[in-house]
Amino acid sequence: MASGGDKSAWVKGSGNKAAKAPGSADRRPGLGPNAPLLGAPRSRQALATPALIVDLNAFEHNLKSMARLCKRAGLALRPHAKTHKSIEVARRQIAAGAVGISVATVREAAVMVEAGLPGVLLTTPVVGDIKLDIVRGLAGRSKDFMVAVDTLAGVEALERGGRKLTVLVDLDIGMTRTGVPDIGGALALIRRVQSSKVLKLAGVQAYSGMVQHIKLVADRENVYGAQLTHLQAVLQAAGTELGYKPDIVTGGGTGSFDIDRRAGLFTECQCGSYVFMDVQYEDVQLSSTGPNPFKTALFVQCTVISNNHPTSPTTDGGFKTFSMDGPIPRLARGVSPQAVYKYFGDEFGKVSGEELPLGAKVELVTPHCDPTVNMHDFFHCVRGNVLEEIWRVDARGSL
Ligand SMILES: Cc1ncc(COP(=O)(O)O)c(C=O)c1O
Repeated sequence: MASGGDKSAWVKGSGNKAAKAPGSADRRPGLGPNAPLLGAPRSRQALATPALIVDLNAFEHNLKSMARLCKRAGLALRPHAKTHKSIEVARRQIAAGAVGISVATVREAAVMVEAGLPGVLLTTPVVGDIKLDIVRGLAGRSKDFMVAVDTLAGVEALERGGRKLTVLVDLDIGMTRTGVPDIGGALALIRRVQSSKVLKLAGVQAYSGMVQHIKLVADRENVYGAQLTHLQAVLQAAGTELGYKPDIVTGGGTGSFDIDRRAGLFTECQCGSYVFMDVQYEDVQLSSTGPNPFKTALFVQCTVISNNHPTSPTTDGGFKTFSMDGPIPRLARGVSPQAVYKYFGDEFGKVSGEELPLGAKVELVTPHCDPTVNMHDFFHCVRGNVLEEIWRVDARGSL
C-alpha cells in the first residue's frame, strides 16, 4: 500500500529549467510565487517549495470513482470540505454529482455560501453569539443551508432572532464528540425542533470518527456495526414513537464508506479524504471486495536545500509543512524506495538513505490531509510534469 519511490525526472535536471510563461503572473494575480510557471513545460519540477501538489489525474479519478460508487448504492454525496477548504474543489465535486458540501467551521460555511455553492451543511453545532449571528446571516443568503444541532440550548440559541433556519439533529452513535447520545434524548430533540416556529427539521446526522482508520474492513465492521445498530434503533423509535422518517440521514467518512453504502440506513454520505487520500488512509483497507477505489492525489513537494551530509540531505519541509497528528510523511517521488523522510525542525526535514544533489525535488504523501492542507495557501495542480492550475485554500484558518 506504500506509494513507492519514483526517481525518474525528479533528481536529474530538477530546478530551474522550466520555461517561464511570460506575463502569466499578471493574468493570475494573487496565486503566489509559482503563478509565472503556469502551463510551462516541466513546471512541476521548477516550483518554489514547500508546495502543496494536487495530481489532477488521481484527483479526477477519485471524483469519478466516488460518484460511481454512490450512484450504485443509491446514496447522495455531500462531501466534506474540511478536507480541502477550497471553492474550486467543492465546485468540481458538485459538477461530478454531489448534492452539496459539508463544512466543519463557520468560516468554511461562509466561504462556500458566499461562493454560491448549493446544499451547504455545517456539521458542527454552533455556540457563541458571533458565530450564531454569522450562521443566521448565511441562512438568509442560501435557501438550502443547514446546520447540525445537538442540545436544547443549541435549538433555543438558533431560534433567537427569529431567522428561519433548516437543521439536522446530530446523533452520537458512539464517538462521544458531538450529538445526542441516547434514544430518549434524540427523540426529545427531534420533537422540540418539529414544534419550532423558526427552525425546520431536515433530518439527522450520525458521524463516527475514530472508527474510520481501523485498518481491516472486518475489524472496522465489528466496532462500527454496533454504532450503526444504535442509529437504526433511533430511526426505528423516531418512526414508531413520533411517526417521523427523516428525509436526510447523513454521515460517514472515507473509512466507513464501504460499510455505510451496504448498511441501508443513510440517504447520503459526507466522505472528505477520498478526494486526496493520505498516509493514514493509504494504510486502511477501504473496500471489502476489491482494491482501494481511491488514489493518492495530494503531495507536498520539497527541495534539497543543503547536502553537506551526503547521506542525509536536508529539505525545506518540516513541522510547519506537514501536520504531525499522523504517521511520518511518506516519500513518493524523487527518491529510491528505501529512502525515508524524517522531521528535522520547524522548516526542515531529512531524507535518510539517499544522496541527492542540491535543488533536487522530492514529493511526499501527507500524513493526514485535512490539517496539512490548512497549513498551505495554494494547491499546485499538476498533470504529468506541467503545473496546470493553482487553486487557493480559500477557507484556511481556524474560525
Ligand atoms: C462530521 C464529519 N463528516 C465527515 C468527515 C469526513 O471524514 P473522512 O475525511 O474520513 O472522509 C469528517 C472528518 O473528520 C467529519 O468530522
